[in-house]
Amino acid sequence: MPILPILTFPNSILRKKAKPVSVIDRELKDLIKDMTETLKHAEGVGLAANQVGVLKRVCVIKASPEEEYTAYINPEILKKSGTRYVQEGCLSFPEYNGIVKRSLNVTAKYLDKSGGKIKIDAKELLSQALEHEIDHLNGILFIDHLKDHEKLSKAGKENITHTHDIDLSINIDKKNKDKFDSKLYTKIGLDDLKLALERADILKEVEG
Ligand code: NI
Repeated sequence: MPILPILTFPNSILRKKAKPVSVIDRELKDLIKDMTETLKHAEGVGLAANQVGVLKRVCVIKASPEEEYTAYINPEILKKSGTRYVQEGCLSFPEYNGIVKRSLNVTAKYLDKSGGKIKIDAKELLSQALEHEIDHLNGILFIDHLKDHEKLSKAGKENITHTHDIDLSINIDKKNKDKFDSKLYTKIGLDDLKLALERADILKEVEG
């Protein structure tokens, strides 16, 4: 079971819409196994197939220590309610993190790897992960949600050794700040992030 390379922004595959899975075959099961290993290795919360270069509607999530790594095939949000602001990151943005608006609760349906139809009510990190990963399957990234909010905190001085998909802290690894201007980020994404950072600083000054 190989660990797959995780594509990083602005790889164009991350912007493509994944296609519904029509048959759960050996190939899909192998993909799920590899994605699970990859997510485990990256110590992330969730991974969508786009992130490993496969345009199929499947993601793997582990949103709590008690939970198994779970594959969600053709996941779809049926209902969402409430709003909250949460800190979020993404394995495709290794050094970034920001605050995005998410729902409090989501009801979703999906197929499990045996093809069983499942409906779940999710909250907390699982609802956040479902929204984040289903976004991925639609070519939407968490930075797309940054524009609307006004808080984005900068990273501390310490270098970051682990980044978690969704979950946990930290924005910019200052030691690698140059990457901000490197090929990793498109002009548009970069400008958005810079703007958000500037706004965060302005807010801090006002509040302070
Ligand atoms: Ni992500």
